[in-house]
Amino acid sequence: MEDTVKLIFEGKTYELPIVTGSEGEKAIDISNLRPMTGLITLDPGYANTGSCTSSITFMDGEKGILRYRGIPVEQLAEHSSFLETVYLLINGRLPTKAELNNMSVLFNDNSLVHEDMQIFYQNFPRASHPMGILSSMVNALRSFYPELQTLEEEINITVTRLLSKVRTMAAMSYKISRGHKVVYPRPDLKYCANFLNMMFDTPVKPYRIDEDLVRALDVFWILHADHEQNCSTSAVRLVGSGRVNLYAAISAGIAALWGPLHGGANQAVIEMLSDIQKDGGNYRRAIERAKDKKDPFRLMGFGHRVYKAYDPRARIMKKMCDKVLFKLKINDPLLDIAKELEEAALKDDYFTEYNLYPNIDFYSGIVLRAMGIPTNMFTVMFAIGRLPGWIAQWKESLDDPKWKLGRPRQIYIGPTQTDYIPIDQR
Ligand code: ACO
Repeated sequence: MEDTVKLIFEGKTYELPIVTGSEGEKAIDISNLRPMTGLITLDPGYANTGSCTSSITFMDGEKGILRYRGIPVEQLAEHSSFLETVYLLINGRLPTKAELNNMSVLFNDNSLVHEDMQIFYQNFPRASHPMGILSSMVNALRSFYPELQTLEEEINITVTRLLSKVRTMAAMSYKISRGHKVVYPRPDLKYCANFLNMMFDTPVKPYRIDEDLVRALDVFWILHADHEQNCSTSAVRLVGSGRVNLYAAISAGIAALWGPLHGGANQAVIEMLSDIQKDGGNYRRAIERAKDKKDPFRLMGFGHRVYKAYDPRARIMKKMCDKVLFKLKINDPLLDIAKELEEAALKDDYFTEYNLYPNIDFYSGIVLRAMGIPTNMFTVMFAIGRLPGWIAQWKESLDDPKWKLGRPRQIYIGPTQTDYIPIDQR
């Protein structure tokens, strides 16, 4: 017998179908609720709302599971590369050797950024946040790379351009912000090594590629590659639902990711640790403030909307963090504060009762800092990693026969009809 849910409203009973996902997740299908009953649902923050069906990423917040196209993220972090994960997310399966090589070649062919775009970069005020610059520049790409002939071409070529150029653009914005000469992508280097070289190579000190750091970046990007319908991905889908071009949809995703409650948390973690350091390393005070309901302060890098047990990405990132710190023999007082804060919060009843555990941002901020990435670039690093997820979700939405223009409703609680009062009578 087909599962349904009965809804009784104003003496009438309505049956609503249940949709079951491949992992047994169940949802009430309310797509006919309003025509049938005149009711809508109210769900602030969409915490109980599924906006689509998707076959890209599965996560179970209670069990701490994250899989891309069915493959556990732990296996990808151990065996895969970011490029292979990009292919997996966008195409739905792992590539063959030839397909992966072909993708690498295409990425190299599309890695340069139009020289005229440098003028834009140079004219942003020095203090501009790189996320604002990246979001604007990705949107501007449409003007430099106009619409292609067919939708298929548009999808394949635009996707390749975006994935390859974003990395160049991110490194370029860093170099220009420092007043340094831009370093061009090198065809002999792979995706991650190429990025690090573009970031850190200088005419006076050539960058020496360290395979452990390259691997750390590979894993960092694999772990950020998709996370189903989070804030920025939902922004990409919603903006994309107006059938806007991909650059504009991704630009919206970058803007959404910028916020400190979302992707901006990795930067916020380091800023919080610096504040604790300025406060004489008093991490206990930070914990007390986070527990004080009258104080808006939260421990950055703790808690997650979906993971209520442990963020599986955080576990992998923590290991990577220890490896990088050991390898680089880094002695950084902020990292000591981070360790003490983590230990104390994990033992504190407030954090255990609220299921607040360190999330990936807590450790990724530390790894990026150790790698020499400037703090204001952290969220840009997240954005590069999340790009394949945004693209895969946007592509899936294009093919979804049930896809509609995104347009939530509301329950109006403002004044009822009120007559206009002429200005001289107010
Ligand atoms: N420190 C202290 N208290 C917290 C924290 C925190 N980091 N996170 C949540 N809480 C408390 C809240 O005060 C609230 O308490 P109350 O119910 O007594 O009012 C309760 O836990 C639930 O908080 P919500 O904000 O409703 O929970 P939600 O699931 O919506 O929040 C979020 C998730 C936004 C990530 C939150 O935990 C937070 O602000 N964390 C800090 C920022 C952060 O690290 N963001 C990165 C998220 S991961 C990512 O986007 C990659």
